[in-house]
Amino acid sequence: MSPADHQPPVPVLDLAPELAEVGPALEEAFRRVLASGHFILGPEVEAFEREVAAFLGARHAVGVNSGTDALILALEALGVGPGDEVVTSPFSFFATAEAVSFLGATPIFVDIDPETFALRPDLAAGAITSRTRALLPVHLFGQAADMDALLDLGRRTGIPVVEDVAQAFGGRWRGRRLGTLGRISAFSFFPTKNLGGLGDGGLVATDDDAAADAVRMLRAHGSRRKYQNERIGMNSRLDALQAAFLRAKLPHLDAWNAARREVAARYRALLAGTPGLRLPAERDGAEHVYHQFTVRVTDGRRDAVQAALAAQGIGTMVYYPRALHELPVYAGAGLRLAEAERARAEVLSLPIWPRLGAAVQERVAAALRQALGR
Ligand SMILES: Cc1ncc(COP(=O)(O)O)c(C=O)c1O
Repeated sequence: MSPADHQPPVPVLDLAPELAEVGPALEEAFRRVLASGHFILGPEVEAFEREVAAFLGARHAVGVNSGTDALILALEALGVGPGDEVVTSPFSFFATAEAVSFLGATPIFVDIDPETFALRPDLAAGAITSRTRALLPVHLFGQAADMDALLDLGRRTGIPVVEDVAQAFGGRWRGRRLGTLGRISAFSFFPTKNLGGLGDGGLVATDDDAAADAVRMLRAHGSRRKYQNERIGMNSRLDALQAAFLRAKLPHLDAWNAARREVAARYRALLAGTPGLRLPAERDGAEHVYHQFTVRVTDGRRDAVQAALAAQGIGTMVYYPRALHELPVYAGAGLRLAEAERARAEVLSLPIWPRLGAAVQERVAAALRQALGR
């Protein structure tokens, strides 16, 4: 008899505990917006923008429709357009590169640091040309990119750093919140994120008054005042309902991220020294907020290990099974990036959420060690 015969399945993510914790506040938020009759932008969104700006320590926070739109609008606000290049990571969700291409610019992929999965600043420096308009690091899985070196590169070249913080809301670099280090940054409130809405949502944060003003204008059909459209923009306004839900959750975020860090520490203790397994790096100066707890199976058997865990009812995910430069839309360039390709063959994200219990983690760790034959 396998353990799966008498133990409940372990999902890769369970939102229920978090939603139960804030359930009454979410219902109150819903009733408040319903009573207000104001469903798009308006006072709820403005209050959310003020609260997020204060939480982050940013001058401006602008709510938009999704993290993807946040990236597009952040880049567009800096003037990125056709013919331009943006140096970015090949190991991310598609939207990172898609935003660049959507604006008619070209994503220039440089290989990643195998410890952080983020783009390597020295390789980014070597990829800069006269057409480079932005450096676009991704704080993947909740872990900061090497911001000291990237900000230094930005200062030396005058090229703005745009942070993709979709997976790292609340994380820090040398005490400062991620998303306040570069010129402008993009956040996602996709429901599974560390701060997730009950639908799509996103946010641009910046200290740059002109860029914030441009994002506000572009998210509302290129108009500052109704029927005074100045530019071609889009409809990317944040809904009042999402803002109200996110306002209910934001005060819990630091506690939830701290709980994720405790879950990660427990995994680390349970899995330390397992041959064939590489645990996520904790780097000096960075506060990892474990959007994912992503291990690497280094003996070439990642898919078999994932299947063995699935047979025991344990959910895992592979983020990402293809590096961006390997996707059909970008593969034409014939680029090879060894570390990104190694990462996509080795990564395995284990179940994680703030209230994940120790007993379940022990089961996951035991199953993982068994699958590795250790
Ligand atoms: C790294 C990264 N960038 C951008 C996005 C896009 O965000 P959204 O799904 O809200 O459009 C996501 C998430 O989905 C992401 O993980």
